[in-house]
Amino acid sequence: MSNSSNMVKVAVVGGEGIGPEVTAQSRRVLDWFVARRGVPAVMRDAQYGLIPYLATGKVLPDETAEAMDEADAILWGATGGPETKEVPPAARKAGSLLSLRRKYDLYANLRPIVANPALADSAPLKPEVLDGVDFVIIRELTSGIYFGEPRGIVTLPDGQRRGFNTEQYNTNQIRRVARAAFELARTRKNKVCSVDKANVLETSVLWREEVIALHKEEFSDVELTHLYVDNVAMQIVREPRQFDVMVMGNIFGDILSDCAAMASGSLGMLPSASLGPIDRFGRRKALYEPVHGSAPDIAGKHLANPTALLLSAVLMLRHIDEGAAADRIMQSLGAVLTAKTVRTRDLGGTASTLEFADAVCRQM
Ligand code: IPM
Ligand code: MG
Repeated sequence: MSNSSNMVKVAVVGGEGIGPEVTAQSRRVLDWFVARRGVPAVMRDAQYGLIPYLATGKVLPDETAEAMDEADAILWGATGGPETKEVPPAARKAGSLLSLRRKYDLYANLRPIVANPALADSAPLKPEVLDGVDFVIIRELTSGIYFGEPRGIVTLPDGQRRGFNTEQYNTNQIRRVARAAFELARTRKNKVCSVDKANVLETSVLWREEVIALHKEEFSDVELTHLYVDNVAMQIVREPRQFDVMVMGNIFGDILSDCAAMASGSLGMLPSASLGPIDRFGRRKALYEPVHGSAPDIAGKHLANPTALLLSAVLMLRHIDEGAAADRIMQSLGAVLTAKTVRTRDLGGTASTLEFADAVCRQM
């Protein structure tokens, strides 16, 4: 496919901390498929963070915004770290990851949790608890307490300060993410667990009512359960195998996905895809990023394991119907990934970012 209109446009945004190291290695792997296997993608590198801020006054310079606007898929590294302090809060906020999620309406955040047998011995949970774990967290990403108004910090007449935020969800915001969960479940084990705090919060009462209504109207073939968020935190470490697809609001998903990371063996292994609405041409914007952050303590040392970003690229390839390429990366990763080659703070491994990606490429 040489016609550029048929090409999938990918913006590769390394960002800060270990982000540029891990995205560069994923890009190498993707370039291999473009050059050798005719995967129809055009990749465009774009800068984000302190470096462009110092040059242009913007963490998200116009060129990056343009690359992301025109992209079908964005491969995102990481943001944050000590350098954050060198950028004034207003400039940081103007181009923040949160504002991008909102701008592109990336409401469905998929975080697949699959236990890797190679990490069983070094994972914090017992091997028998991890064995066979395979579930997906769908986190609502553009609403809830992250974006609700009013919010702020005010000084009260008695001199005390008060911070406040607003947790809120509308019917359509709940229904569209629940729909994503039911549809995904139909392609898996057909089970959805909806997570809320309906014993305390009105937003959760509405959440549960809407999920139940949508289920009754359109998805009664899918098994639906409801659990309170505190119970889910316990169930994830007690018996994570019970879950297939879980759907929840923004803040619950943020917290539970870090917790669930341990059920995969390591936070360094988790990819994610954030999907926007489907447009009239059947396309949907998507941002792929690792769940781990910028890991400033190991940044620039080529110690970061690029697996989470490679797995994010695998999710991207599946969404653009390049399943064969995705399978090939999974096979190569499987051959390379052992407790020894993984270096994150919770697993002392030995391979450098580069060596690891080299080994993956050699398998292909
Ligand atoms: C995540 C991160 C972000 C979030 C931060 C970096 C704003 O923790 O993607 O889970 O809270 O959503
Ligand atoms: Mg988080």
